[in-house]
Amino acid sequence: NLNPMKELLQEAHLNNYAVGAFNINNLEFLQAFVTGAEEMKAPLILQVSERIIPYIGLETVSRMTEAIIKDRSIPVALHLDHGSRFESIIAAIRAGFSSVMIDASTKEFEENIEMTKKVVEVAHSVGVSVEAELGTIAGTEDGHTVEEKNAMYTDPDKAKEFVEKTGVDALAVAVGTAHGVYQGKPELDFERLHKIKRLLDMPLVLHGASGVSDQDLKTAVKYGVNKVNFNTDFQQAFTKRVKEIFAEDPEVYDVHTYCGPGRDAVIEKTKEKIKILGSSNKA
Ligand code: 13P
Ligand code: ZN
Ligand code: NA
Repeated sequence: NLNPMKELLQEAHLNNYAVGAFNINNLEFLQAFVTGAEEMKAPLILQVSERIIPYIGLETVSRMTEAIIKDRSIPVALHLDHGSRFESIIAAIRAGFSSVMIDASTKEFEENIEMTKKVVEVAHSVGVSVEAELGTIAGTEDGHTVEEKNAMYTDPDKAKEFVEKTGVDALAVAVGTAHGVYQGKPELDFERLHKIKRLLDMPLVLHGASGVSDQDLKTAVKYGVNKVNFNTDFQQAFTKRVKEIFAEDPEVYDVHTYCGPGRDAVIEKTKEKIKILGSSNKA
């Protein structure tokens, strides 16, 4: 009973809020996101990065998700984050994901269109939603780094052409955010974002949202972002809590005595983010 991501994002697009898209790193994260979103009565996008799949297992994460959201009252989508290979996208669809991202943003414009089109054809034929990316987002994401100087902001007219030719359900835009921890303070190009939104009139996605101020996140939502991706902020919240526990008592070895509080920290952070994105009570 997963929902297509498109359903969640269309609602957000029409009512001007954003759905949190949170990266699953282990069972505790998954439990925390669902618990937090349910407490906030918020729609939820759970996502798994292609690069984490060898660690977590594709069938494993899909079945864990199905088991955890069974009997839940909120709409939930399960999304493949930063899919780069056609095979891993097909594998995710087969495993029951309700949405996939094809990230061919480092390819030439025409090749990005071709790859994305191919994914849209297959995914849409079985009711699975598609997110693609135009422009490149800087920073490090699960060990993969794009240097700041190689990052390229999304061109609004190109974006228009891209969505018309591909038929994607959501577009990730590069407007100044970066994956991972920021070196300096991020400077978001809201004017560009606003322009893209007016031209495309469809759900937009903001990647690399960890480390972006609450105010900037709110402004990004105001200008048309409907899906906001967070990973690093949750990893830091979890790890910080676990470190505190080990600092208090280095002899701790019982896994649930430190993963449990780590999970609680992720629940709190989930609720905080949902509040900022304006998606509470939208489920
Ligand atoms: P952060 O780790 O900066 O939150 O980025 C997450 C992301 O964009 C996942 O796709
Ligand atoms: Zn990302
Ligand atoms: Na970030």
